[in-house]
Amino acid sequence: MLEFSKQFGDMISVKMGSQLIVCINDIKTLKKIFSSSEFTARPKSALDCIVQGYGIITADGELWKNQRKFLHKHKFGLKNGGTVSENMESRVSYEVLDCLNALAEDTNTETDKHGIDLSPYLSCSISNVICSIIMSTRFKHNTQRFAKFINFFDEGFRLFTLTGPMIFLPWLRHVPNIRSTIDKLRANREELLDFVGEIVEDHADSLADRKGEEDNGPRDLVDQYLLEIKQRREDGTLEETFGDKDPETQMKQILVDLFSAGFETIKTTLLWTFIHMLRNPDVKSKVVSELESVVGPGRLPTMEDMEKMNYTRATIYESMRRSSAVPMGTTHSNTRPVKVDGQIIPANSHVIPNLYAIHMDHQIWPQPEQFKPERFLNPDTGKVFKPKHFLPFGTGQRMCLGDSLAEMELQLFFASIMHVFDIDQADADPHNLPSLEGHFGATLTPSDFKVKLTPRNLEALVAENLKAKPANYLHMRTYG
Ligand code: HEM
Repeated sequence: MLEFSKQFGDMISVKMGSQLIVCINDIKTLKKIFSSSEFTARPKSALDCIVQGYGIITADGELWKNQRKFLHKHKFGLKNGGTVSENMESRVSYEVLDCLNALAEDTNTETDKHGIDLSPYLSCSISNVICSIIMSTRFKHNTQRFAKFINFFDEGFRLFTLTGPMIFLPWLRHVPNIRSTIDKLRANREELLDFVGEIVEDHADSLADRKGEEDNGPRDLVDQYLLEIKQRREDGTLEETFGDKDPETQMKQILVDLFSAGFETIKTTLLWTFIHMLRNPDVKSKVVSELESVVGPGRLPTMEDMEKMNYTRATIYESMRRSSAVPMGTTHSNTRPVKVDGQIIPANSHVIPNLYAIHMDHQIWPQPEQFKPERFLNPDTGKVFKPKHFLPFGTGQRMCLGDSLAEMELQLFFASIMHVFDIDQADADPHNLPSLEGHFGATLTPSDFKVKLTPRNLEALVAENLKAKPANYLHMRTYG
C-alpha cells in the first residue's frame, strides 16, 4: 500500500470481491476523517453473526458511544482506593516483579547455552496486568490453566485469519471448510464467555457479602459493570447504557475485547523493542547507563524515574515507530457516502488507516529504516517528545482506549528487564540477528527468537521481593 501510494496518491481504493477498500496513507487526511463522526462505524462482514455487535471493538452507533464513555469514566475500574495512576502502577509493577522472578528462576546454565525465549514470560505477565485490572484474576507462570486460557485467543486469531477472504467474498461462508471454521469460532467464543462468566458470577456473589466491609467500593471493572446493571435495572434505564443488547453478555464481551486489545499489542511491542536492543548495542548501552544513573542498584524503576529517563522512553517510541505493532490500525467504515478532498467514499467502505506508511514516510522520518531514538529527543533540551506523525495508537474518535496503560506497561517492563539483566544475542553468530521482517495478522509479530540473559542487578529483585503486596491484591484470584 505504501508503494502504491507513491504512484497513485495518499488515498487509494481497491475493489476486493464485493467490498471497497480505501487505504489512507497520509496523516492530514487521516486526522480529518477519523476525527469526524462519519467514520466511526466498523465494516459489516459475514462474521458479524458471531460477535453480533457486542463489546467495543466491533460495536458501533449508540452502543459503542455509551460503552466508550462508560470505560473512560470508570478508567477500567481503577478508581477505588488511591488515584487511577497509583492503582495502575501498583498492578503493573506487581506483574513486572513476578515476570522478573520467573525469568531469574529459569536463567541457568542450560538457558545460558541455548538462550531463553522471552515470549511465554511476557505473555503470562502482560495477560495478568489486564486480567487483574478488569476482573481481579491472574495466572501463575507455566501452568496448564494459563495455557488453556491463552489458547482460546491464539486459536480464535488463527481461525479468524482462515476466514479472512470471507470478508470480501461473503458467499465463501457456504463452502463446507469455511462453514466448519465459523462453527469452531462460534464455539470458541462461547467457551471464552463461559470462562469469563464464572469470574463474573464469583464477583456477583461476593459483591453482596462485601456490603458491610469498610472498603466495599468496586474492586474492578466487573464490579463496576455489575453495579451499573443493577442500578439501571432498578431505574428501568438499562437501554441508556446497553441499548437493545443483553447487559450480561455485553459485560462479558467487553472483558474479552479489552483482553484482546491490551495483550498481543503490548507483548509484540516489547518483543520488537528487545530485538532492536540486540541489533543496536550502542542504544542498549545508553539505556543501561541511564538506568544506572537515574535508578541505581537495589530497586526497580518507577514511573517517577521514567519522567527523568528521556533516552529510554525515546527508545521505546522509536521501537513503536520502526516496528508498528498495529501497522494498519483497525478498519473503520462509514454509514453514508462522504466526500473527501473532492472524492466520494461510498457508504460501507472498509477504511484502513495505514499507520505503517505514516511511520515510514522518508520525508518526515529521514532514513526511516534506521533505528534512531534521537528522533524523539528535543536537540536543545534533550527532553523526550512525541512528533505529530507518531500515531501508534491511531487517531480520532476511535483512538486506542488503553494508551496510558500501554505506555506504563511498556516503560516498566522494558526498563525493569534491562535494569536487572544484561540482554544479548543467544546465537554467537553476528549474522544471525533476529529479523526485522514481521508476520502480518491483526498485529505485526516478530519471528521466534531467543536471548542470552545474564543477571546484572539481582539485588534490585531481592529488595523488591521483601516489600509488602499492594492492598488491592487481597481480592485477587490466582489460578494455579
Ligand atoms: C502498544 C500497545 C497498544 C497499541 C499499539 C494499540 C493500538 C491501537 C490501535 C491502532 C487501535 C485502533 C484505533 C482505531 O480504530 O482507529 C486500538 C484500539 C483499541 N485499543 Fe489499543 N493499543 C495498545 C494497547 C491497548 C491496551 C493496553 C488496551 C487496554 C485494554 C487497549 C484497548 C483498545 C481498545 C478498547 C480499542 C478499541 C477502541 C474502539 O473501537 O473504540 N489497547 N489500539
